[in-house]
Amino acid sequence: PAVRLADYAPTAYAIPTVALDVRLAETGTLVTATIAFTRRDGTPAGAELVLDGDELDLVSAALDGAPLAPDAFTASADRFVLKAPPAGPFALTLTTRLDPATNTKLMGLYRSSGTWCTQCEAEGFRRITYFLDRPDVLSVYTVRMEADRTAAPVLLANGNPVEAGDAGDGRHFAVWHDPWPKPAYLFALVAGDLAVLKDEFVTCSGRRVELGVYVEHGNVARVGYAMDALKRSMRWDEEAFGREYDLDVFNVVAVGDFNMGAMENKGLNIFNDKYVLADPDVATDADYAGIEAVIAHEYFHNWTGNRITCRDWFQLCLKEGLTVFRDQEFSSDMRSRPVKRIADVRTLRSHQFPEDGGPLAHPVRPETYKEINNFYTATVYEKGAEVIRMLKTLIGDEAFRRGMDLYFERHDGDAATIEDFLACFAEAADEDLDAFARWYRQAGTPTVDVAEHYDAAARTYTLTLRQTVPPTPGQPDKLPHVIPVRFGLVGPNGGDMAHAGVSGAEVRGDVIVLTQPRHTVVFEGVAERPVPSLFRGFSAPVKPNVGLSLSDLTFLMRHDGDAFNRWQASSTLAMTMLVAGAHAARRGGVPRADAAYVDALGEIVGDDRLDPAFRALMLAVPGENDVARELGDDVDPDAVAASHRALRVAIGTRLKPVLSTILAAEDPAAPFAPDAAGAGRRALVNAAGDLLAATGEAAALDRLAARFSAATNMTDRLAALTSLVHRDAPQADAALAAFVERFGGVPLAVDKWLAVQATAPLGRTLDRVAALTAHPAFSFRNPNRTRALVGSFATLNPTQFARRDGAGFDFVADVVRRLDDSNPQVAARILVAFRSWRSYEPERRARAEAALRRIAAKRPLSRDVADIVERTLA
Ligand code: ARG
Ligand code: ZN
Repeated sequence: PAVRLADYAPTAYAIPTVALDVRLAETGTLVTATIAFTRRDGTPAGAELVLDGDELDLVSAALDGAPLAPDAFTASADRFVLKAPPAGPFALTLTTRLDPATNTKLMGLYRSSGTWCTQCEAEGFRRITYFLDRPDVLSVYTVRMEADRTAAPVLLANGNPVEAGDAGDGRHFAVWHDPWPKPAYLFALVAGDLAVLKDEFVTCSGRRVELGVYVEHGNVARVGYAMDALKRSMRWDEEAFGREYDLDVFNVVAVGDFNMGAMENKGLNIFNDKYVLADPDVATDADYAGIEAVIAHEYFHNWTGNRITCRDWFQLCLKEGLTVFRDQEFSSDMRSRPVKRIADVRTLRSHQFPEDGGPLAHPVRPETYKEINNFYTATVYEKGAEVIRMLKTLIGDEAFRRGMDLYFERHDGDAATIEDFLACFAEAADEDLDAFARWYRQAGTPTVDVAEHYDAAARTYTLTLRQTVPPTPGQPDKLPHVIPVRFGLVGPNGGDMAHAGVSGAEVRGDVIVLTQPRHTVVFEGVAERPVPSLFRGFSAPVKPNVGLSLSDLTFLMRHDGDAFNRWQASSTLAMTMLVAGAHAARRGGVPRADAAYVDALGEIVGDDRLDPAFRALMLAVPGENDVARELGDDVDPDAVAASHRALRVAIGTRLKPVLSTILAAEDPAAPFAPDAAGAGRRALVNAAGDLLAATGEAAALDRLAARFSAATNMTDRLAALTSLVHRDAPQADAALAAFVERFGGVPLAVDKWLAVQATAPLGRTLDRVAALTAHPAFSFRNPNRTRALVGSFATLNPTQFARRDGAGFDFVADVVRRLDDSNPQVAARILVAFRSWRSYEPERRARAEAALRRIAAKRPLSRDVADIVERTLA
């Protein structure tokens, strides 16, 4: 049954307070919830009370302290109904028995390496007790938890600690109270034998906050970076958004078994340990950046998510899109802004564009869902963040800040909607945002076609811009979007040209505002034909089609004042060649690279005045999946791979001198620091090494093998290993063996070892992946291991997942069927790899469809997997 936004209605009852008594035990944990109810205005006296449950086992039920008569209620695994509640306030006391040890779905209360922990977003609290488990029911929680003192010396829950003591029998207890009303999805508790790093943060108004990062024993030495990122996040939110922390403690717990990245439970964030643990031996620069971003993201939710939450799950982007925007801004301030922007746009294009262009497309704010966990998507998160960024571009920084201030002031304590949010900005900017709001309602990536004309006699320069929003499932017809086009007219000297005036579309400073399907913008007094630099900084999540010549693009690549568009021009050029190359390879021909492009690339990459991180990004040509998406249909991944390889070999060959110079300039004795500057230098050196290796020259491979052995940090080690394995170098197997010999006991490093092998574009990879499922370090019970091996095979190895014989599809389908029984959320995520199946050439398309049908035929089939497979096949 689908849930619909249009059907929203508040609950009949409210829950002002909840008292939980949780008795943790190896076998049979007992949860006693005393839930206070009040009848909402408009609810008739005696109206039945229906509570959500999921796989629950009710032990006892009492109303206002007296056991309930059997005919006064009904209880099943997924529902509790109190038939005739009192008219006035009343309290239900419900005891449920849970078995966290067998909870393989990792939703509700479960165990991870012996630690009891919870995950309640989106609908996990109903797996702990019967409840009104929806985000618009806000309650004040008091939690008493009790456990064996040896098994769980650490007892944590939301809010502030109020009491702790002995409970007899080797047991102890702790009581936590969270003064801030919250929805059930923000509830959390953790109990276990954990080590902690403590620190302190003093807020802008002088509140002393005790900070703790809890990890398994032996890992405390790896939490320093996360703690530092947390303190920087707390300070930044005060400075950038005026947001202060509001409890006496803030705790972070890292667990090894976690379905997603992390969770913003009030005052007790629970993390996938991949986003907490780091030292140079096991973490790459990308891991450090990920930790910084996710620590910040979860912390920022304290205001955008917790103090102001969502009215219903359709409003998920209200907290997620906004919080991603905030964490992106934080990382931009901590690191290089243009480099962060390029990285974010690459992620958007590789994750969100294919979603928006395929069978799973949905609006940033969906209007219907069958399983909400399937809507924690790149569209809700990343496109949601782009929409906020466009809003800021349109109304300007100052109005944006006023709108945010108003939002915090007006909606603190509310469960709000996108309409509430936008109203604050409409008021702050004194602007009608109704048309802009279409970004929340219409799915699909718009295309903007641009034509230009320079009239030398009239000294006018004319741009004609046409937007099309493609049809998506359930949305055949679309209205035009409000699209901010940040632009510059680049003159022959490389600087932006002046103009004497502009007419046509509305232009605000350096932003053209498109509102109609077609606009003509005329710039007056333009001395010569400029090269247009459009969508600077990727000012809108669209596909521009400007049709610039190779020489214009090479010019922008060299001279554009906007770093993003320098990179974009290079990417566009590379994409043109990659697409042509894929067509050529399909016909049995040879892909060719444009020498002028490669030479321009060489100049930029060799320019020591430029940020190494930026130069490294320039060297990274669009990936195979990007090329397949550009091709659109009849895709043969082998032809795409051939084209991709050919371009990289051409770059590696022609740029050998400059790439070798970069490698030679590396200072192997330089101390490691996980900062942006160091990461940028490593990225450049490793990109150079990888391109040289792509040529297959023995000397380049030898040098890589030496770099692998000598590496003093995981970034360089993994980069060298990946290049060797993916190039099928003779040194690859020895390097893999050395790696697992040294890091076999470190799960997060094992993930890298699994992923390197799973993503190798080699005919034997599938057999190896299948064999690795039996490796002692692998387990289908652990989401990180499963994603590292099977997830990366399915999403990052286009030629082997989409093997012509269908064996790659079949393998992944078998894994999905197997995981469907133990962890449907992870199963559904892996299944998403099939979403572009219709764009394959006919033979692969048929094989993919057969695999999908085999998944669809499984019984029983979880709602998570059924929802994705049905939409994928529709
Ligand atoms: N709110 C979390 C975050 O954005 C994600 C939790 C999603 N969990 C889930 N089971 N769908 O960091
Ligand atoms: Zn989030």
